[in-house]
Order: sequence, then C-alpha cells, then structure tokens
Amino acid sequence: MSEMANTDPEGIDAVRMTWNVWPRTKLEASACVIPLAVVIAPIRHHPDIPTLPYAPLRCKSCAAVLNAFARVDFAAKIWICPFCYQRNHFPPHYAMISETNLPCELYPQFTTVQYSLQPTPDPNNPSAHPQLPPVFVFVLDTCMVEEELDFVKSAMKQALGLLPEHALVGFVSYGTQVHVHELGFSDISKVYVFRGNKEISKEQVLEQLGLGPAGRRTAAGFRKGIQNGYSNSGINRFVLPASDCEFTLNSMLDELQTDQWPVQPGNRVSRCTGVALSVASGLLGACTPGTGARIVALVGGPCTEGPGTIVSKDLSEPVRSHKDLDKDAAPYFRKAVRFYDSLAEQLVNQGHVLDLFASALDQVGVAEMKVAVERTGGLVVLAESFGHSVFKGSFRCMFKDGEQSLGLCFNGMLEVNCSKDIKIQGAIGPCTSLEKTGTNVSDTIIGEGNTTTWKMCGLNRSTCLSVLFDISATERSNDPGGANSQLYLQFLTSYQDPQGKTMLRVTTVTRRWVESAVGTEELVQGFDQETAAVVMARITSLKMEMEEGFDATRWLDRSLIRLCSKFGEYSKDDPSSFTLNSCFSLFPQFMFNLRRSQFIQVFNNSPDETAYFRTLLNRENITNAAVMIQPSLISYSFDSLPQPALLDVASISADRILLLDAYFSVVIFHGMTIAQWRNMGYQHQPEHQAFAQLLQAPHVYAEMIIQERFPVPRLVVCDQHGSQARFLLAKLNPSATYSNPINMATGSDVIFTDDVSLQIFFEHLQKLAVQS
Ligand SMILES: *[C@@H]1O[C@H](CO)[C@@H](O)[C@H](O)[C@H]1NC(C)=O
Ligand SMILES: *[C@@H]1O[C@H](CO)[C@@H](O)[C@H](O)[C@H]1NC(C)=O
Ligand SMILES: *[C@@H]1O[C@H](CO)[C@@H](O)[C@H](O)[C@H]1NC(C)=O
Ligand SMILES: *[C@@H]1O[C@H](CO)[C@@H](O)[C@H](O)[C@H]1NC(C)=O
Ligand SMILES: *[C@@H]1O[C@H](CO)[C@@H](O)[C@H](O)[C@H]1NC(C)=O
Ligand SMILES: [Zn+2]
Repeated sequence: MSEMANTDPEGIDAVRMTWNVWPRTKLEASACVIPLAVVIAPIRHHPDIPTLPYAPLRCKSCAAVLNAFARVDFAAKIWICPFCYQRNHFPPHYAMISETNLPCELYPQFTTVQYSLQPTPDPNNPSAHPQLPPVFVFVLDTCMVEEELDFVKSAMKQALGLLPEHALVGFVSYGTQVHVHELGFSDISKVYVFRGNKEISKEQVLEQLGLGPAGRRTAAGFRKGIQNGYSNSGINRFVLPASDCEFTLNSMLDELQTDQWPVQPGNRVSRCTGVALSVASGLLGACTPGTGARIVALVGGPCTEGPGTIVSKDLSEPVRSHKDLDKDAAPYFRKAVRFYDSLAEQLVNQGHVLDLFASALDQVGVAEMKVAVERTGGLVVLAESFGHSVFKGSFRCMFKDGEQSLGLCFNGMLEVNCSKDIKIQGAIGPCTSLEKTGTNVSDTIIGEGNTTTWKMCGLNRSTCLSVLFDISATERSNDPGGANSQLYLQFLTSYQDPQGKTMLRVTTVTRRWVESAVGTEELVQGFDQETAAVVMARITSLKMEMEEGFDATRWLDRSLIRLCSKFGEYSKDDPSSFTLNSCFSLFPQFMFNLRRSQFIQVFNNSPDETAYFRTLLNRENITNAAVMIQPSLISYSFDSLPQPALLDVASISADRILLLDAYFSVVIFHGMTIAQWRNMGYQHQPEHQAFAQLLQAPHVYAEMIIQERFPVPRLVVCDQHGSQARFLLAKLNPSATYSNPINMATGSDVIFTDDVSLQIFFEHLQKLAVQS
C-alpha cells in the first residue's frame, strides 16, 4: 500500500491535497498559512476504476451520490448519507444486497467509480444527444508571409487527413475581412464576407449566412441533413464530414493567398482576429448545440482591426509589455480582455472550445485571448513560426488517433459536495463557474468561484483543477472528536468521451478533522509539500493578474516565514536552533525557485509568454507543475550512471553533460572538455565508443520527454560558455557567484529582493522565522 502511494501518490481518486488532515476552525485554517486545496484530475485513467452500467443513487436530502463511506443497514435496506446523515431507503432493484453481496459503489476500495449513462433522447434538448460527431472549425489567419502560410496550409492538410472520417469540418479564413467558406459545393466555391472592423452579434452572423430564424434548421433537421448528404440549405453548407470535404478543402487551401489588402508603409497589416472568432463561434452556435465542437484558431500576428485589437496599426507603437501593463499604459488591453471574456461566455453557453495556435516572432495577444481559451478548456500552443517543431509537433498531436491521441472529451461539468462547515472558495484551472451558489459557497472568491459547479467544455484524462476550500466561520460547538471526526468531499464529473458516450465519474474522499490545540503533529504529518508549492504558484500567479500592485515576492516571503514560524522547531531569537520537520523540509527550496521562476519574474518574458506558461501551470498535474517551478537536472559523466544533480552552478563541470528539464524547455549542456572532444570528432573514432554513447544518452532521454509532452517543449543544445548556456544558468542556484554582503533590515518581512543564493535565502528565513 505505501509502495503504491509512493509510485502513484494520487491513487484511484487522482486527488492530492495541500493538507491531508484538516483544522477544525477558520481561525486555525488561516494560521496554517497554506490554503486548504484539493488538486484533482477529475477523469484521470486508472485501471481499477469500475464502470457501472446503471444510474447512481442519490441522497434524497442533499443529492450526494451513494458511496463507499455510506453506513448501510442491510436488514432494514437503508443507507445513511455521510454528508447530511439522511437515512435513505434502497430502491427495489437493490433488494439483493447484503454484507457479502455489495454493489460496486459500496466496496471500500472503490472510492472512485464511473457510471456509463445512456440519456433518453430528448428532441428539445439536443445537447443531451450523444451521437453528434465532433466538429472542428478551422480559423486561419492569412496575414502572413507566403512561407509561413505554406507551412500552416500543409499542417492543416495533414490534420484533415488525420481526422476521423465522420468528424465535421468548417473553414473560416481572415485578414482585413473574414471569409466563411461554403464547403457544400465542389465546383463553385462560395464565400461569405464579413467586415473586420465592426463587432458582430451571433444573430447577425446567422442572418448573413442565411441561417437566421427563417433558414435555420432544428437540430433534428440538422442531423437529418447530414444523413441525407448535401441538403443545400442550413448548416451543412458550412460544416461537412471530413471524408466528404477533404478534397474541396485541400484545393481551397491550394488557392488561398496571403491577405491582399494594401498595407501603408510604417503600418501593421490589418488583422481582425476578434471578428473572425466571433463569426466562427456564431456559426458553431447555429449548428451543434452542446456537442464537442471546437474552434481551431491559427494566428500569425496581433489583432489590429475591430474588437479584440491589442495594438494600433502604427508600427512605431510596440505591442504592450509587462511594464506597460504595470503602469496601465496598454490602452487596448482591458477592452480586448473584455471582448474575449464575452466570447468565452458565448462559447461556454454553447459548450464549445477555443484552441489557439499562435506562431509569430512578436506577440499575437495570447495574454488577452487566454480567458477564452482557459474558460473553455481549449489548447494553447505558442511558437515562433508555423515551420517550427513546437507548432508542427503539437498540432499533429492534436489530431492523432489511438494510443497517442490527446483523448479530448467535452461537455464536462464538475460538482463538488462537502461536509457541513466546509465552504468552497473557487477553482483554478480550465473551467468556468456556473454560479450555482448555496450555503456551501464562501464569500471569499478565488479564481472561478461563487459556485459549487463548474463547466469544463474541453477536458481530457490529464486535465487538473485546484479547488480551494475554507472552514465556516460559525462557532462549531458540537461534539469535538465525536462522531464527526471525518470530513467528506465528493466530486461528480459528467462528460462525454471521445466516442460521444456520456459518463459520470464519482470520487468520494475522506480526511480527518483535527482539533487545533492538540493536533499540530498530525497537521505536520498531513502536509503535502509538492502540492502546496504548486497551489501557492497558482494562487500567486492569479493574484498577480487580478490584484493591482500585488507584490508577489513579498507575499510569498511572508507566507513562508509565517509557515516556518508556526511549524518549525526553535528557541526564540536563536536562528541556529531552527529545524524543520522533514514533511516541510523541501518547501522553502520550492519557494526559492518559485520566486525566481517565469511565473513571478515576468519581466524576462512577454505578456503572451507569461499567459501561456500560467495556463499550463494551472491545468497540468502536480508532478508536471512542480517541474515548471523547480526544474530537474540530470548529470551524465564517464564515472557513473546518469544521476540527479543539485540545481546549482556547482553541478557544472567540464567533463559532464547536464540535462535540464524545465518543462517548457529541455536543455542539453556540454561541459567545456566534452565540447572540445566533440568538436575534435572523438565520437567518430572506434576507440572512443564510450564517448559517443555519453554524447548520445542525454539526447535519447530528451527525445523521450519531447515525445510525451504537449505542447512540445523547446530543445536547446548548448556548450559551457556558449550564448545559449543562459537557458541553463538562469535556472541554477547562484551559489558560487554571489558574494555580496547581506543587508537585511531587522524586522523586515522580505527575505531578499535580489537574486540571492539558496544558502543566503535559508539564513534569512531562519532569522526571520525565529524572531519574537
Ligand atoms: C490531454 O491534453 C493535454 C493537452 O492539453 C496533453 O498534454 C495530454 O497529454 C493529454 N492527455 C492524455 C491522457 O492524452
Ligand atoms: C451536493 O451537490 C448538489 C448539486 O450541486 C447540491 O444540490 C447539494 O446541495 C449539495 N449537497 C451538499 C451536502 O453539499
Ligand atoms: C451545503 O448545502 C447543503 C444543502 O444546501 C446543506 O445541507 C449543507 O449543510 C451545506 N453545508 C455547509 C458547509 O454549509
Ligand atoms: C454569485 O452568483 C449569484 C447567482 O448567479 C449572483 O447573483 C451574485 O451576484 C454572484 N456574486 C458574486 C460575488 O459574483
Ligand atoms: C502527470 O502527467 C504525466 C504526463 O503528462 C504522466 O506521465 C504522469 O504519470 C502524471 N502523474 C500522475 C501522478 O498522474
Ligand atoms: Zn445527504
């Protein structure tokens, strides 16, 4: 069991918590500094999860689903809900149950089960109909140089070949204007043109496409149309099965030119990304209510025209930087974010997803568009060029089938139930609050809050969410340590799998309450430092985006000092006496690396890059997110097998190769001697086979990482003292280079603002933590 826990800390439930023992009161919870958070991969695959072919039983009082923690009276055929203590009668079809004949959901090891639901077809609510095929509407920017357009065209053609035959495809291209291409005719290609400089409503889109109330087909008619092939009215003029339109679309792509609109000297091209996305989502709104439809946007530059504009056409005005955002000197930013926020709302209402593939040397507006991608659970990939492996590899991956497919699911909804006295603050990750409020919802909102239910338009087995909790402020006087010594949380996730089947995943977990006065040791043992570090990174990133003037470094330092003061062991005012329990001992180093990471030191990146990094931070599992914060380093040398090395400049050595996995990039770094030998070509000489193998080994490992990861990370191969070496150096603890004297004001709550070494950071931390 414990071995299992080591290799798979998330177990069958795919749940990790910052604290695995919960303090009883709000006051004590806030004294614990690190918030109560559950990180869950709501539909992660686990071979032991049973799929049950019947509907779940729900508590008649609180609607929680029957689970392994219910107390059962077999004689009376009654179960007691662990959430509200309601006694529920089993229905007649459970009449056979006994201690030795349990339904799956009552087995103690099945704290997670899955129900396969067959909804009764409802003609008035087609979203409940699972049989509609997935829909991909490609939205292609044509304001590019010819070479880039050729790259992206060939990627699209490849994608069309990979799509399942029954998948429906639509095509929108844009530049100064938006073109919606009718795919239903192979001989004459008909195009609907929309002006790029004016906001357009869903109704106007439908009207112009001839899909308005008069021309619109009902969903039933829509399906019938598809079955009949080419009815020449209605949506199936625009969205066709891949097998039927591949030829047309391929020849359309062959003829497609770069945007021909004249560009004045000193100006940017006029590119109306915002209107193009409005038009695409309007089109989707007409055709496939509530099914797995996605807009696949391929964007090659900034929006400069109409709603969603992020920069003026005047080339002398640069695209906004973090400095501009900080000083509120980015005149287009807020307006563009508001526009994409409303686009997100429309897409979430329709249950549709926005995927963004941005490829350009300059920024394209990921920072503004992020809200629509994240709230719909879309994919985002940021690359320098459509010819770059980061784009090509990732894009291909999206359409792969079988083993290597991303397993994209849709129409997800997550509901959380919890024991009395627990309040839900919100969720961070690819989801949208449905604002289903109740007494279980906290007034303090973090991320997508004010709800017990979230929509996840797009999700897959890897998708993670962090749900944040608080303890009710009401005085809790009843039975300390009594019957209610356990708390319960239930996560209900309904979704449609890639085949269109509706599933309901139910995960019920329990943890122990602990009385503050006596329970510090228990709290300590229940601390999950890796999860805590990731949750702190997510909350800090969120605060940096939401709170004006938020000082992230100061806030992290304060939190760390408070945590160490509370849980460290020391005599007051004696820094040398300070020790930390091993359950906390890795946490300060995580915070040290977080302070230096791209999530906090945003000025080294563009706002687009920061938005991209944070989107991935929020949705990946703990293991991956931890690598983003604190990269892993492996050392290769003649003397030993590859082995983990300290993330410190001291690990650099002339006769070693280092491999740094920083998640977004993988760096292979050759020590000086190794680089010289390689330059002299030793690896080609038969007597130096061992050297050839040494050179090869990190490449093999890097290739393995690249194969498994989406988006594909950037590979940097460099030598000691080479210019690219900065990709490694920036991530290493500067232990050997920092010799400045320490000037810390006593009583300060900031450990250091400079790029200090880990050792100095620790010294300051100890000093401040023991201060009375
Ligand atoms: C789910 O999609 C993400 C991209 O958002 C990808 O990295 C991951 O590999 C996919 N997971 C599975 C199990 O396919
Ligand atoms: C459980 O969730 C359902 C649906 O969101 C809600 O109606 C109910 O009040 C919740 N019950 C508890 C005990 O939280
Ligand atoms: C959550 O809501 C349910 C139903 O409204 C209620 O029975 C339960 O006591 C609530 N829990 C908390 C912590 O307020
Ligand atoms: C919470 O949701 C309710 C119901 O939609 C809404 O009326 C209220 O304004 C929301 N509160 C906040 C703080 O957003
Ligand atoms: C986290 O995700 C990676 C791949 O994205 C996977 O290899 C790993 O097993 C996952 N970890 C857990 C604990 O699920
Ligand atoms: Zn109940």
